[in-house]
Amino acid sequence: MPPSATKRSKRGRGAAADEQLWSGRFNEPVDDLVKRFTASVQFDRRLALHDIRGSLAHARMLAACGILSTRDLAAIERGMRRITVEIETGRFRWSLDAEDVHLNIERRLTALVGDAGKRLHTARSRNDQVATDVRLWLREEIDALRALLARLASNLIDQAGRHAKLIMPGFTHLQVAQPVTFGHHLLAYVEMFERDRERLADCRRRVNRLPLGAAALAGTTFAIDRSRVARELGFEAVSENSLDAVSDRDFAIEFCATASLIMVHLSRFAEELVLWVSPRFGFVRLPDRFCTGSSIMPQKKNPDVPELVRGKSGRVFGHLMALLALMKGQVLAYNKDNQEDKEPLFDTVDTLRDSLTVFADLVAGIEPVPAKMRAAVLEGHATATDLADYLTMKGMPFREAHEVVARAVREAEELGCDLPDLPLQVLRRHSPRIGADVYKLLTPEGSVARRNHFGGTAPAQVKAAALRARRRLRTAKR
Ligand code: ARG
Repeated sequence: MPPSATKRSKRGRGAAADEQLWSGRFNEPVDDLVKRFTASVQFDRRLALHDIRGSLAHARMLAACGILSTRDLAAIERGMRRITVEIETGRFRWSLDAEDVHLNIERRLTALVGDAGKRLHTARSRNDQVATDVRLWLREEIDALRALLARLASNLIDQAGRHAKLIMPGFTHLQVAQPVTFGHHLLAYVEMFERDRERLADCRRRVNRLPLGAAALAGTTFAIDRSRVARELGFEAVSENSLDAVSDRDFAIEFCATASLIMVHLSRFAEELVLWVSPRFGFVRLPDRFCTGSSIMPQKKNPDVPELVRGKSGRVFGHLMALLALMKGQVLAYNKDNQEDKEPLFDTVDTLRDSLTVFADLVAGIEPVPAKMRAAVLEGHATATDLADYLTMKGMPFREAHEVVARAVREAEELGCDLPDLPLQVLRRHSPRIGADVYKLLTPEGSVARRNHFGGTAPAQVKAAALRARRRLRTAKR
């Protein structure tokens, strides 16, 4: 941005180039610090192309309603084409003096096409304008984020299908609990990310309503056609109340809440990856391109990418809190506080986009280490529940079976072996109902194979679940 000229403009000479478009009623120029403090162009210029789209739809509606001449409309369209090129090629001169993206563009338009530019703001306010811009922008970002979630889910499904039979320990309380398959574990995240994608679609419905026409707060005296604007801009509905339309940012809060949940899910997976690549677990290897070394310890290969994703979740939660606090207690209708919605919202989208992109790549590169998984599942009596189920099937009440197996586990602990390593006569001392047929059930393979129902971890179920997930992804592309 060029350093802003600080010439004092004289009253009554008409707006000089560096004068605020709203300065008619003021007796002295705005203080330089105040100008910088109140300006938003440094960040809201990101909305420029959406601002132009909104303005064009507004101008076309004004012309269709006979409020703007067709000559003026043609001039506005010509000017906006030129401005679009200037912005896209980086030649547009953004100025702090013009405060925000809306006034920068309007001022340039007026410089290019004269009075027609000054007529564009008929029946409109920056209050309904900015709400429209943010909604247009966010709608597009939501679509892009949904596509990224789909890519992440797709990569997870690929891996899950590939490793539907690979056995690893499942954990509760981070203690070995029962064997599961690696594919089953990965599909748990597919479920989370699919719900996130649904949540985004749901949020989009409420983002996709048109505020324009609310003007400053009370509507306008002009006979405008709001549904025409909504149609042209692809909004599903027109906001019903002008005060609400210009003031509430609940759609942005809702988006940040959804984004926070996505980061929660990413952070859970990130944490598992950090554990799994540590030599203590060693369950997976990550491609070197996702890891970094240490500047002092030559042996280190650190999982920086998952760690950063885990860390960035805090930043997104912070933005959600910022927006909640921003909105809390705001009286109707528009207040300048709302200008503060943009930076948290932009950063949320950027953080989410990068995190999802890098994670999708990372997931595709995960290489499991079956031997390490197997060693871990053979420690910790992972099939103790299977023995209890076996006894229950032989007629023992489950609570009693639970007791019997607990005692057998204690004996195995004392002998320093795992439950299935106990000889048959030792097991039979705990219950004579146990026969030699029990051992195949106490293997990790036997354990997972018998959890063969919808949602279970049997390899056949995991393969079927992967297929279903793949189908869902294909049919629900939008
Ligand atoms: N830059 C402002 C914002 O982001 C635009 C609306 C300004 N409206 C006003 N009455 N000052 O909220």
